[in-house]
Parts: sequence; structure tokens; C-alpha cells
Amino acid sequence: MNKSLEYQYKQQLASYLDTTADHIYLYYKGRVALYAILQAMQVGKGDEVILPAFTCVVVPNAIKYLGATPVYVDIDPHTYNADIAGIEKAISPRTKVIICQNTFGLSSNVDAIHRLARQHHIYTIEDCTHGFGGTYKGKPNGTYCDAAFYSTQWNKPFSTGVGGFAFIQDKTLEQNLALVNSNLEQPAIKDTMSLRMLYFVREKILSDKCYWHMISLYRWLSRHQLVQGSSSGMEICSVAQPNHYFKAMSDAQIKKGLQNLQTLPHLMQLRKHNARLYNDYLLKHNKTFVNPQLFPDHAFLKFPVLVKQRERVLALAEKQHIPLGEWFCSPIHPVRENWETWNLHAKDFPVAMEKSRQILNLPTDEKNIEKILQFLDNINEFLV
Ligand SMILES: Cc1ncc(COP(=O)(O)O)c(C=O)c1O
Repeated sequence: MNKSLEYQYKQQLASYLDTTADHIYLYYKGRVALYAILQAMQVGKGDEVILPAFTCVVVPNAIKYLGATPVYVDIDPHTYNADIAGIEKAISPRTKVIICQNTFGLSSNVDAIHRLARQHHIYTIEDCTHGFGGTYKGKPNGTYCDAAFYSTQWNKPFSTGVGGFAFIQDKTLEQNLALVNSNLEQPAIKDTMSLRMLYFVREKILSDKCYWHMISLYRWLSRHQLVQGSSSGMEICSVAQPNHYFKAMSDAQIKKGLQNLQTLPHLMQLRKHNARLYNDYLLKHNKTFVNPQLFPDHAFLKFPVLVKQRERVLALAEKQHIPLGEWFCSPIHPVRENWETWNLHAKDFPVAMEKSRQILNLPTDEKNIEKILQFLDNINEFLV
């Protein structure tokens, strides 16, 4: 591990969070950072962890790996984040942690959730995997709660291929975390080789012309575990912890992080700019839009749109080469069945269920979104 590069990277991350490098902890993926924080909070068998019913399955996985129980809360239809009244109802004597999330880059009620948790002597964790660089009431995302974790996976605010980090300032938690981190494995040579191959393919081979063919190839390779995908098959179909899960960040990721972090200020501006254009379109056509008052704090990693007949819209997008996303097509994305395995009972979450049936996400980091605005017009009849 190159200590000087590691320090430099942590320092640059810390500058976005108004903190110092010693409060930043690097991990192989964002989910691993969450798992480490949960351990530092001594979450274990018999404990409950509250989280939104509109998240990625790797979040409840980290809870289940420790023998604790995920307790879901339905979402607010306007923010796609856990509804605070629902959080209050879900608190029980077993609740140890509340996880709040900056879905698509939007934080909401983080201060109020933290206050509520304090009254009940419960920890809070902010899932900032979509929200690094964004703010809530003027303060950086992740700075209201007892701890926060971030992702630097491909589609995240900036990328290290796969990657993540945690931010903690509480002394006791940091001491606990130091012990937890003594069990971290270093990534294997095969991990870093496959990451380097992926960097090469993404940067040198993936031109606009072959993008769609290469994306199909990448999905196939990652399904068969031949390149670094975001989640292994096992994480999507079971709650058994994969081998070599608890890994540190490699030097290759740190180098990539230092390089790509330079692009973040520009990307943040571009995302907001594009989001405004999408929102103007939706407002003009009386479709579901994002409340403009939320714009100053919203990082707009993706722009949410709601549609009828999603499969049809997706097929049209593929034909017209529009890169639409499907976060979160399930309350525990991307799992489409056997939700009970993750303690989720669909009937209890009507809002999350409805939104996960309708949601699609528009890319916000494209330089020219004329084609996407034109596509919105083509699918106008499907927009909700
Ligand atoms: C809401 C949410 N939380 C956590 C994660 C996990 O991040 P990572 O892929 O870096 O483990 C994701 C992943 O994509 C996510 O969307």
C-alpha cells in the first residue's frame, strides 16, 4: 500500500466533507464500508437496523451478514427517501441503527432523523453512495449522522471502478473501527488485474460506436464473474456472505480515485444543468417532476422519471441507444423475487412498490442531452 498516495486521496475526499484525512477510511466497495461501520456500532444478532424500502440489496445484505434484522420503512413519494413518520413508527427497543439515504443524490430530513435517533439512543448512518459532493441545508452530505459511507463504483459521483469509503468523527466509533479494520484483507492480484483491465476497456476501447455492444459484453462477463461487476450473483440471490468480502482498497483504485476526483466539480455542475432541462420538460408537460426548491442541495447523480409500461419504454430506449438506468426497479434493487429472504414483505410498502414499478433514471452526465430530450418527447404518452 502506497501510504503517501493513500493520504493524498483521503485528504482530497476530506476537503469535500469539511474534515481531515484521519476521519476517512477506504474500502474495496461502499457496501464493505457500511459493513465496517455496522461492526464498529457493534450491530449483531437480535439487533434491528431501519432502512428505506427503496435501496440496493447490498445494504440489507451487510445487516444480514452480521445476524441483525433489516426493518424497512416506506418512502416519501417526492424524495424517494424513507418517510420520517414511518421511521418513528418502526423504532423498537431492538433498534440499534437508522440508515438514511441520499437517493439519486437527494438528502431529506437527515437532521430531523438524527435528532429522533438521539432521543432513542440509536445510531445513524447516512448512505451517501449517490450523494458525495451534494449537500443538505448547506452542509456536505454525510456530516449530520454518526457515520456515513460513500461509493465510487462506475456510476457513482466519481469512479474508481469499484470502491468506497467511510467517514466517522465519533472517537469511540473510530476506536472500534480501528479494531474492525485489523481484519481487512488486501485485494488479491487477480482483483487488481481485473480492475486494471476494466479501466483500460472503459477508457481506451469503449467508444461511442461500440458502446452498446461492449455494455452487453461487460454484463455477460460480469454475470459470469470474469470481470469486476458491482455485485456477484451470490449477493443477489442469497444472504450468505461471499468469501473475501471484507477487503481494503487497492493502490490501483486510489490512483484512479485521485485522477477522477478532479472531474467532480465539473460533473456536479453538468448534472445540475441537465437536471434543470429535464425538469423543465416535465413541468411543461404536466408530468411528475422534482420540486425545484430541492435543486440547491440535490446532486442529481441520476434524474428520476416515472413511466407506464416500463419494459416497452426500455425496449424503445435500447433501440434508440438512450442509456436509461433502472435504479430502483425493486425495493431492494435488483432483486425481483423472494424478498422475504431479506425480511421484506411487499404489501407493507405500497409507495415503494408503486415507484419501483414505474421508475427509470435519465443520465445526467451527458454533454449533449438533446437526444434524450427528444426521446422524452417520443415517449411522452408513457410518462406519468
Ligand atoms: C443506495 C445504495 N447503497 C449502497 C450501495 C453499494 O455501493 P457499492 O456498490 O460501492 O458497494 C449502492 C450501490 O450501488 C446503492 O445504490
